Amino acid sequence: MTSLLTLASAAPQSALDPAGPYAGAIARLWWIFFITLSAIYVVVALFILTATFRRRASGESSDRRLTIAVSSAVGVTVTILFAFLFFSTSTGNALTSTNGKAPLKITVKAQQWWWSVQYEGADASRMITTANEIYLPVGRPAEVKLKSNDVIHSLWIPNLQGKRDLIPGHDSSFFIQADRAGKWEGQCAEFCGLQHAKMRLDVTAIPEAEFAKWVDAQLKPAVSPKSKDEQRGQQVFLSEGCPLCHAIGGTDAGGRSGPDLTHVASRRTLAAGAIPNTRGHLAGWILDPQGVKPGTNMPTNPLPPDDLNALLAYLRSLK
Ligand code: CUA
Repeated sequence: MTSLLTLASAAPQSALDPAGPYAGAIARLWWIFFITLSAIYVVVALFILTATFRRRASGESSDRRLTIAVSSAVGVTVTILFAFLFFSTSTGNALTSTNGKAPLKITVKAQQWWWSVQYEGADASRMITTANEIYLPVGRPAEVKLKSNDVIHSLWIPNLQGKRDLIPGHDSSFFIQADRAGKWEGQCAEFCGLQHAKMRLDVTAIPEAEFAKWVDAQLKPAVSPKSKDEQRGQQVFLSEGCPLCHAIGGTDAGGRSGPDLTHVASRRTLAAGAIPNTRGHLAGWILDPQGVKPGTNMPTNPLPPDDLNALLAYLRSLK
């Protein structure tokens, strides 16, 4: 039991290891329910054991004792239910309060099967678009608006907040906040099709100063290709079908149905956590996406080896 709890609390996806106030409020409520209900279970079990093994008394005094026992049990039950109601309501309130701090505004749009992430800026030129990753400044709340294009998904970042469904046509939102630096993982928590299990979302909390640097880096257009290979790779990217779905800031590629690739080389994974972001995996993903993630909207790209190598050099340079 202890080792199970330790395991659960050490994981990057654990509701028992809250990293901020919202997940903390949910964890507190969970522990209140767990401890109270465990205590009730033990008390009821003891009563059943006593009743089974004790000889039954009879007469007026036993009737009176029974009446007292039943009315106290009813009293305790009602008190516990009201206490639960109080704790549930106050937890609900805690989940929507930012304690007067101005939250970051992030829109997460669930796709089949990945997450598009957009940070609202002071104006349109300060808007950041990325995919399958969220960066947060430590101690600042973020309001995450949730949208879905096609099917119902459910976003769950257990260390930061409870689950929330993303239903097409019914936008919703929740708050997340991390009070310490760290990395956690979000996941789709509702069956949404073939690749439901491969909708990972990385969440990284960093100190405010580092976060400001991350924002500045994300706001920059993509680095221009330097080597011959990278230059040729950019041409391959722009002349094949890639720009129909993908955008790269600073180029003519402006597709929006696939992940923005302006800083793709800085991401930890590809295809929403399905594969690590390495040269080899990227090559496999470009050549045969259906082999990596069956059902993905990314088409097969049978590129000649030289074109593929050049394209890889270019994409790997997009830090
Ligand atoms: Cu998206 Cu399950």
